[in-house]
Amino acid sequence: MEEQRISRTGEIRRLSKDDRFKVLGVISKASVRKDKNGRNYWDIAVMDEEGILEGKIWGNSKWWDKSGDGQIEISDPASSELFREMTGKTLGLAGQVTEFKGQAQYNFNSVYYMNQEKFPPHRFVQRSPYDADTLEKEFMDLVEACDGPVGDFLQFVFFEKGIWEKFKDWPAAVSHHHAYVGGLLEHTVAVARTARSLAETYAHSGYEVNVPVAIAGALLHDLGKMDSYRLSPAPEMTVAGTVIDHIVLGYSMYASMAGEYTLDERLFAAIGHILVSHHGCREFGSPVLPATPEAMVVSAADELDFRLFCWKNAVEQMEDGKEISDYNFSAQRRFWKWEQGNGA
Ligand SMILES: [Fe+2]
Ligand SMILES: [Fe+2]
Repeated sequence: MEEQRISRTGEIRRLSKDDRFKVLGVISKASVRKDKNGRNYWDIAVMDEEGILEGKIWGNSKWWDKSGDGQIEISDPASSELFREMTGKTLGLAGQVTEFKGQAQYNFNSVYYMNQEKFPPHRFVQRSPYDADTLEKEFMDLVEACDGPVGDFLQFVFFEKGIWEKFKDWPAAVSHHHAYVGGLLEHTVAVARTARSLAETYAHSGYEVNVPVAIAGALLHDLGKMDSYRLSPAPEMTVAGTVIDHIVLGYSMYASMAGEYTLDERLFAAIGHILVSHHGCREFGSPVLPATPEAMVVSAADELDFRLFCWKNAVEQMEDGKEISDYNFSAQRRFWKWEQGNGA
């Protein structure tokens, strides 16, 4: 691997059909499947500091152990110690860009098990592109903007209960959006900032909106993601995350801390309602629809942040000269990189 140039995932996404590439990163997802001839193939995702690249390793690929001196071919990867559990390991991959139904697809035809001490997996874990100290300061400012019992309760949850240390590094997903270290904080701050400004705008227009409750609901809305995901070292879904989901997990964490704090009953219900309704509709996992102004602004801010993130991600991955993105399954649309004077 070392003698040939290694590309980052961001660079690979801008390649064209038939281009070849090599990448080095930590495997964030790997599952073995059978093709129609009964041969094994793997769906994998490789992560480096720039992002995640999903692709396939087909049955005719070559597998190598490069953890010692030289390289040894592995003939039966499915039963090999090294490749049986690839998630969380640093691998080198050589592959080619192909096209499937008009979309780029990445096929890996050589797989190298790397020396895990020389190439530690945590080195390749993607981080939030935003400065951690700036995000932390913004989070503190939002907590401070909530005076009275709501602000005191937030201090209790994040700092007295010791949640902050884990919260600030947690991912917000394993794919789709903010699926990297610090993603939960980045997303939470963005949602709370938008919810605050929407709440203030409507309060200014004479609506009865409780701004601190909207901010608190936004800061707590995805609390359950702390139990839904784990870092090992790439983000992974936990069993609880899969079978219970972050809305129920978050509400239960919130309810137990609010009980311990003896939060006022009306405030408890108002903030709890934001947590359970934030996905906006039953099909997306909320048992009730947002029924208060505070819940409506948090749910709108959450959806907006998700869609804008998908737009940003899609346009960053577009080849030069293109203005319409590939179909984005998460957001169910193609995005447009609009520029003024573009023939308009
Ligand atoms: Fe959520
Ligand atoms: Fe969210």
